Amino acid sequence: MEYQEIIDRKKAIVNSPIKRIPEDKLKNVVDQFYKRNPKSLENFTQLKTIVPGGLQHNLGAADPFGLVFRKAKDDKMYDIDGNVYTDYLMAGGPIILGHHFEPLDSKIIELISECGPAVGLTHEYELRYAQEIVKHFPGIDMVRFLASGTEADMVAVRIARVYTGKEKIIKIGGNYHGWSDQFVLSTNFPGTGPSEAEGIPAGCYENTVEVIQNDFEGLTKAFEKYKNNIAAVIAEATGGHAGTFLAHPDWNKTLRELCDQNGALLIFDEVITGFRLALGGAQVYYGITPDLTVLGKIISHGYAGAGAVGGKKEIMACCHPSSINGKKAFTGGTLSANPIMVTAGYYAMKYSEEFHAVDKAADYATKLTNALNDLFSTRKDLPFFVYNIQSIMHLETACHSGIALVENPVSRAKEVMERYKVLRTYCLALLTQGVIPLGDRFYCCMMHGEDALQKTLKAWEYVLSLIPEV
Ligand SMILES: Cc1ncc(COP(=O)(O)O)c(C=O)c1O
Repeated sequence: MEYQEIIDRKKAIVNSPIKRIPEDKLKNVVDQFYKRNPKSLENFTQLKTIVPGGLQHNLGAADPFGLVFRKAKDDKMYDIDGNVYTDYLMAGGPIILGHHFEPLDSKIIELISECGPAVGLTHEYELRYAQEIVKHFPGIDMVRFLASGTEADMVAVRIARVYTGKEKIIKIGGNYHGWSDQFVLSTNFPGTGPSEAEGIPAGCYENTVEVIQNDFEGLTKAFEKYKNNIAAVIAEATGGHAGTFLAHPDWNKTLRELCDQNGALLIFDEVITGFRLALGGAQVYYGITPDLTVLGKIISHGYAGAGAVGGKKEIMACCHPSSINGKKAFTGGTLSANPIMVTAGYYAMKYSEEFHAVDKAADYATKLTNALNDLFSTRKDLPFFVYNIQSIMHLETACHSGIALVENPVSRAKEVMERYKVLRTYCLALLTQGVIPLGDRFYCCMMHGEDALQKTLKAWEYVLSLIPEV
């Protein structure tokens, strides 16, 4: 689906009434959820007495309670009550070969039997893995491994500041770059500023400049306003949250041009898109090469401690302890490039190439996108639709993100939450049908196939049946 059609259809949704599941039907859904998951409920009830909110992860849903899982295999997850799910969370993005991909996991078992989890010095797979990354990513000549996407984002901007000698970073509203102090700014929604920044002193944002997604004029103005002091622009190349706040087709090209004209670096945060849009990331998919690339969880296929920043040699050379010309961006991380991470990453990349994981996952996403669009079009009263960017699917139903596209989004701020809550009711209904969504997003893997497709369509038929026809 083309950019303009997506934008028009999102606007059409938010210009029509919210499609709620009526109270009585919603009560049945909630009752079903309780009935299916007594052990999860028991576990969650105990967990929340010793873990804030009973949940460690932003991507989980704890309303009415969080599910607890025991097993994962291929495209499926198994909870402790014996329910089986078709999974589209994919651990928040990193799983593309499928859960518990045995050829990969057996390499890690072998590794652990030989050297355990950490050596504290260089492991032999570090070189092999770095070479693979450099081979696939046009923007990466050198790579520094780190422990998470958040860390990698922090290091990328530090390197940019050291290299350029400038201070300000342009962050695009609604783009996510982890949770370090300087980046908890319009993280969930463009234009909301530091609304989630309790505990972060205002001074932390002094050098973070927000520009709204696709605001070409605002971008030019920011460069004019902070002339000669913009170190970098950091962005998700898809547009914020993996394409929820979708990038205009000319956006990345413009970012590249304005960075070049102003002596600023372009940083692509490829924590989601690296290995998923293409083995060489969004920079290959869109054909725009950044100066620095941030990588995260997918680079170890979900094994813990995964992050990296890569870039051109002369820029990366500022990264401590390489530091040339006395320019030093200090970095640390005891478990960075640990044997498990680099071995998992190396084989994940090798197997993704060998098994054509990127294409298979993307083909499935396109097939499911088309099938869901056919299903949604049977309900003329519902403006729902789906689009995909390779294996990332966006299901626009309650479409809280669409409020960002209206004339005066602030005037409809309350509606964002209302629409989001309605989305959560659809998600709960999907869970009762054995489908795990990531809110309005689905990540696909190469193991999704016909069974998953049919099950997902059935689950959505059920959700639609709960929404009264008008
Ligand atoms: C685009 C993007 N950048 C950075 C991060 C932060 O990565 P981590 O959760 O590993 O700190 C995420 C996490 O989802 C992300 O989606």
